[in-house]
Amino acid sequence: MPSAIRADLLFDPGVIPHSGQDSLGQDLILRPLASDDHTRGHLDLLSILTAAPQLSPTAYSDIFAHHKSCPSTYFTIVIVHESTDTLVACGSIVLERKFVRGGGLIGHIEDIAVAKSMQGRKLGIKIINTLEAIGRAKGCYKIILDCSKDNIPFYEKCGFKHKEYQMVRYL
Ligand code: ACO
Repeated sequence: MPSAIRADLLFDPGVIPHSGQDSLGQDLILRPLASDDHTRGHLDLLSILTAAPQLSPTAYSDIFAHHKSCPSTYFTIVIVHESTDTLVACGSIVLERKFVRGGGLIGHIEDIAVAKSMQGRKLGIKIINTLEAIGRAKGCYKIILDCSKDNIPFYEKCGFKHKEYQMVRYL
């Protein structure tokens, strides 16, 4: 991943366990988000999940810089298809330090997406397992996420179980 190595990465790639790269296939690389991943289709990928209109390069850089300026908080990983230099999967874990549980740490899994053409090839479970490993290594006592009913079987395959309900108020 020469271009990715030159680019500014969101966090130290050493945080990703070696198993992250296992059984991915030769043409796929798992790494932290890079500051220029908008040029590799990051927002196109996220648009299969929700509205993700294109951002100007400056706006993308500003968000990247904001995430990077919060140490040990934002961990976004991507899987890159090397020959096309395109992102085919992504996901984040956002770490929240609590006052409860003796100052415990919760991991929030967010924005999981696998390109339609690559779904069903275990990239989704690879992203979740890697984010979970990061959360575990950072000391999280639990990891939580919100998902649609349709995705419950996927997350159950990843080892999650249903608990509580989500509430929302759009502003
Ligand atoms: N229903 C039932 N089982 C499923 C589903 C599903 N919707 N999706 C995957 N699985 C199963 C697979 O069959 C597989 O089972 P197996 O191990 O027995 O063979 C296992 O889950 C792992 O599947 P993967 O191949 O890793 O799944 P994939 O790479 O296709 O990724 C994902 C799944 C992320 C849901 C993908 O379909 C996707 O990007 N969907 C659109 C965006 C989306 O909904 N993202 C999740 C939003 S929730 C959030 O971000 C917190």
